[in-house]
Amino acid sequence: MKYLIANWKANKNLTETNHWLDEFCQNKLTQIKNQVIICPPFPLIVPVYEKLKYFPNFSLGAQDISSFDIGSYTGEVCGKNLEEIIKYVIIGHSERRKYFQETETVLMKKTALALKYHFQPLYCIRNEKDAISEKVNFVVYEPTWAIGTGKNESLDQVLLLRKRLNLKPGIKFLYGGSVNEDNASLYLKSDKIDGLLIGGTSLNPKSFWEIIKQA
Ligand code: PGA
Repeated sequence: MKYLIANWKANKNLTETNHWLDEFCQNKLTQIKNQVIICPPFPLIVPVYEKLKYFPNFSLGAQDISSFDIGSYTGEVCGKNLEEIIKYVIIGHSERRKYFQETETVLMKKTALALKYHFQPLYCIRNEKDAISEKVNFVVYEPTWAIGTGKNESLDQVLLLRKRLNLKPGIKFLYGGSVNEDNASLYLKSDKIDGLLIGGTSLNPKSFWEIIKQA
């Protein structure tokens, strides 16, 4: 079983999301054997959820979760708000660490709250120095230089990093960083890589579907 995660980041409006869905839903979604997780920006999660909720191999993820629980935190989106809609949440993405100064302490709070609401954290690390909570089941290796640059990490280096992490048995290990329809199969054919986190390429429904088909 492979996990294919679309990270839309801060892209698309409602019209563009509906176009993406119209095009994507023309494919044979019922024939998918792997797990596909779409992570749109917060306001676009529900329209995607409404369209895909009847397909058991598709689920929704959030790109972030507040480090505060339910309460008076204007502007925040907390676990409770996402309950019933998402199953996964990206935590520790290098863009959150870099642009929003998210520290290990904040990431641990977010992880605890994700688990409280029964979401699976998709825990991103930049290298082997980033701490990983004992409680996460998904670790995503994303070297910063490979994100959005068109330069993907070699399979050998991804496997080397995985080895260095010394993950507990059962922990899913994924790769992300300039994955596209031409290089995805390189990672997908390895039984040591459980899936891919796909940014730019997932914005195009045709390209994302190509990757899903290869898995
Ligand atoms: P990219 O982004 O596929 O556009 O490189 C991956 C990510 O940052 O999740």
